[in-house]
Amino acid sequence: MTHAIGITDISAATTSLFFPLTSLAEAQGTSAGKYLRGIGQHEMSVPCEDEDIVTLAAKAAAPIVERHGVDEIRTLVLATETGIDQSKAAGIYVHELLGLAQHTRVVELKEACYSATAALQFALGIVSRHPGEKVLVIASDIARYELDSSGEATQGAGALAMLVSADPAIMTIEPASGLFTENVHDFWRPNDRTTALVDGRFSVTVYLRAVTAAYDDYVSRGGAEFSSLSRVCFHQPFTKMATKAMQTLAKHAGAESVADAVSTLEETMIFNRRLGNTYTASVYMGLLSLLENAELEAGERVGIFSYGSGAVAEFFSGQLVEGYRSQLRPGALSAQLEARREIGYEEYRERHLLADRTGDFEARVEAQGPFRFAGVRDAIRVYEKA
Ligand code: CAA
Repeated sequence: MTHAIGITDISAATTSLFFPLTSLAEAQGTSAGKYLRGIGQHEMSVPCEDEDIVTLAAKAAAPIVERHGVDEIRTLVLATETGIDQSKAAGIYVHELLGLAQHTRVVELKEACYSATAALQFALGIVSRHPGEKVLVIASDIARYELDSSGEATQGAGALAMLVSADPAIMTIEPASGLFTENVHDFWRPNDRTTALVDGRFSVTVYLRAVTAAYDDYVSRGGAEFSSLSRVCFHQPFTKMATKAMQTLAKHAGAESVADAVSTLEETMIFNRRLGNTYTASVYMGLLSLLENAELEAGERVGIFSYGSGAVAEFFSGQLVEGYRSQLRPGALSAQLEARREIGYEEYRERHLLADRTGDFEARVEAQGPFRFAGVRDAIRVYEKA
């Protein structure tokens, strides 16, 4: 018997601080319009000393574990490009914080912002083989560029968790998938760096090339025509990138009106505009924003375009399940966004530099939320329940 497989629960988290882009523009002597309208970003989430990708991941997944229990979760896949160790999977700390069973496989995946989609595909494969098991997929990232660089305005932070199962309660993922890989240096982070290197304009070009290539491959593999996609969620390094992507895709797919297609994007951008770039989580933050803020019917098809610099991309689609809205936690992420403390330019810069520290240290107690990063003791990262 074949089961529908897909997303049965979804939950997100962000940090305790934020920095408004109007403050960045003012300090730089740049027009705020460049950030607010030009790249379509209003704020960036900023971690405090005792928040990192592990605490964010656990904070995002905790409501899912509370609702579904731990018995059927036998795999945790954590996607990130903000790795905290060259060897050990960050998900092992998350596994402990969430109280998951010992009989669980835990692994970390990396390919820039794309790897949460690889994690989702792995999860679909595992569940198709073991329909009684559920897979916890978590995307968690802190986007950092150098101070005074062109990427600075596109920083951000957040985590998004999805539970993948048979007979999903939110969205069935359809089998067709369009792929794209090309060896380019549009954005990368060598092992000795805590901030990304980026060729910003080139990265936009490669992203747009990947949109049409992955979409064409999706259609050639039996994917739906553009006209039968009710909405499309694009990876959003900044929300204006989704606008550019939709303009390119709609034109390429022969849409009746490119402007109409672009106008359907608004509900996918509500969270990302305030979170900033959340790298691996970004496209799924767009999906959560869409699910919470748009009135879509069961059976409607949503396209998803995932892009990771370097570069790998994938275009696929899902269909909404009857009653999906009742599975959401409306307002949960908005409440976290509202609860963040605003910081000014000086504090933002001090905190940016603090993130480069090495060796042992204790982290100040600051985080809002159930988990905290206590610091590094004898080269071991220490996490606590708050
Ligand atoms: N009012 C309104 N709009 C304004 C404005 C104003 N006062 N001033 C400028 N603008 C507009 C510009 O016209 C431009 O619009 P278009 O792109 O439509 O032409 C927009 O604001 C941005 O201005 P610039 O192109 O001059 O900005 P920039 O070159 O300083 O920075 C960027 C743009 C290169 C994308 C930079 O933000 C960057 O390097 N970001 C990081 C890399 C990135 O996010 N790349 C995206 C693709 S890669 C990816 O997706 C993976 C990932 O997550 C990193």
